[in-house]
Amino acid sequence: MSNAIEFAQNNASRFVEELKSLLRIPSVSTAPEHVGDVRKAAEFVAEGLRKAGCENVRLIETSTAKREGHPLVYGEWLKAGKDAPTVLMYGHYDVQPAEPLDEWKTPPFEPTERDGNIYARGAVDDKGQMWMHVKALESLMTADGKLPVNVRVIVEGEEEVGGEGIAAFVREHGDVLKADVALVSDTEMFAPELPTLCVGLRGMIYTELEVKGAMTDLHSGMYGGAAPNPFVALAQVIAKLKGEDGTILIPGFYDGVEVPTDDELKAWKSLPFDEEHYRKTEVGSPELTGEMQYSVLERTWSRPTMDVHGMPGGFIGAGAKTVIPAKALAKISFRLVPGMTPDATFAKYKKYVEEICPKGVTCEVRMIHSGDPIVLSTDSPYVQAATEAMAEVFGKETVFVRGGGSIPIVGDFVRELGLPTVMMGFGLPDDNLHAPNEKFHLANFHRGIESIIRFLNKVGA
Ligand code: BES
Ligand code: MN
Ligand code: MN
Repeated sequence: MSNAIEFAQNNASRFVEELKSLLRIPSVSTAPEHVGDVRKAAEFVAEGLRKAGCENVRLIETSTAKREGHPLVYGEWLKAGKDAPTVLMYGHYDVQPAEPLDEWKTPPFEPTERDGNIYARGAVDDKGQMWMHVKALESLMTADGKLPVNVRVIVEGEEEVGGEGIAAFVREHGDVLKADVALVSDTEMFAPELPTLCVGLRGMIYTELEVKGAMTDLHSGMYGGAAPNPFVALAQVIAKLKGEDGTILIPGFYDGVEVPTDDELKAWKSLPFDEEHYRKTEVGSPELTGEMQYSVLERTWSRPTMDVHGMPGGFIGAGAKTVIPAKALAKISFRLVPGMTPDATFAKYKKYVEEICPKGVTCEVRMIHSGDPIVLSTDSPYVQAATEAMAEVFGKETVFVRGGGSIPIVGDFVRELGLPTVMMGFGLPDDNLHAPNEKFHLANFHRGIESIIRFLNKVGA
C-alpha cells in the first residue's frame, strides 16, 4: 500500500470532521442572504488547499460591473516537472437551497452521521466529493513530500446557478487552467459498490416564462369572465410544450439529436437496472412517465426533456383570496443532449411560445442560464488510469454511464480548453441530491480519496 493511502486511512476521522465544518457553512449560491456564507466556504476551501501544500492559493473574484458573482478558489502545485502531466481538479463548494426544511430528519446545516452516512446539504453535491480531492492531495503531499503530477485546482461557487463566472474565467484566462486532463468528482456511481465513470452529461437551458394580463391585480368576482387570467394562460402554454406521450411539441426541437452508438446502448442494457425497484425506491410515484418507446436510461441520459420547477406568483398564502393576478411566472428548463445547442433550442422555444400565447395576455421567455451537453471519449490513457484506479479500490470492473444532470463548465473544459475529462463520482442513487436528507456514504468518501490517490499516481507513473 502506498504511504499516501495509509496516511488517508490514519486520518480518516479528521477528514470527516473537517468536512462537517465545511458542511456547516450554508453556501447556498442562489440566495442573496447567503453571499457571506458562500465566501466563508470559499475561504475554508482555500485554507484546505494551503494545508494540502498547494501554492498560489487565492480567491478569484467573478463579480463584474454586469453581474454579482461568487469567487472561484484556485490553487496549484507545479513542481513535478515539465514532462509530468498536469491534472486540473474541479469541484464546487456551493449548494442548492435546503428547503423544504421540515422534511429533513436532522437540520441541513448540522451534519449528522447515521448508518455510515453523513447527512447535510452539500454532503455529496459537491462539498464531500470536492473535499476528497483536497484530502487526496494532502495525503500525497504529506506522505511523499511531493505529488506524482502537476496539479491545478479550481473550485467554483456558482455551479448550482449555472456557472457563469467560471465560464467567463475559462474564456478569458484559460491559460491559468492549462492542463492535460481534467478530473471532476461531481457525479454518481450506478449502484452501490459498482465503480463507475460518467462519460456524458446533458446540457440545459433554464428559463423563465412570464405571462402578463391586466395592468393590476383584479377582484375575481368583479372582473372574472371578462379579464384574462395569466395563470390559466400559462397552464395552456405549458400544456402545449409537452404531449401526454412525453414528446416535446416545439417545432424542430429534436432536430439533430444524436443517438448513442450501438455499443453504448448495448453496454447500458447490461447494467444492473431494475425499473420497478427504481420506480419504487428512487422515484416513488405510481408510474414512470415520458417517452415509453425509450428505456429509462435512454430517457434520462440521451433524450432531451422539459420540466417545470415552480410557478411563483398569484395568491399562495393560507386560506383563500379571490384575485385575478396581473401576471404569472413559470421556471422552466430543458435538458439537452448531443446534437442540440442552447441557443438554437432557446430560439425555437421562444418562437413557439410567442405563436401559441393565448389571447388577452403577453408571453415573454427569458434565459436564466445554459450549458452544452457533452459525451466524452473513453479512448485515453487518463480514462484508462481512472478505470483501473476505481476497479482496484472497489474490487470490481468499472462501468461507463452517462449522467442526466448537467455540470455546465465540463463542456467548456472539453471545448474551450481541449481537455480530456474524467468524471469519477462517488455518489449513490439514493443520496437525495437537491432534496431533503441529502447524504454521502462515508465509505465512499474514503474510497473516493483512495481512488483519486491511485489515479494521480497512475497518471504520474
Ligand atoms: N452534480 C450535479 C450534476 C449531476 C448529478 C451530474 C448527478 C450527474 C449526475 C450538479 O451539481 C447539478 O446539480 N447541476 C445542475 C446544473 C444546473 C443548475 C446548471 C443540474 O443538473 O440541475
Ligand atoms: Mn454538483
Ligand atoms: Mn447539484
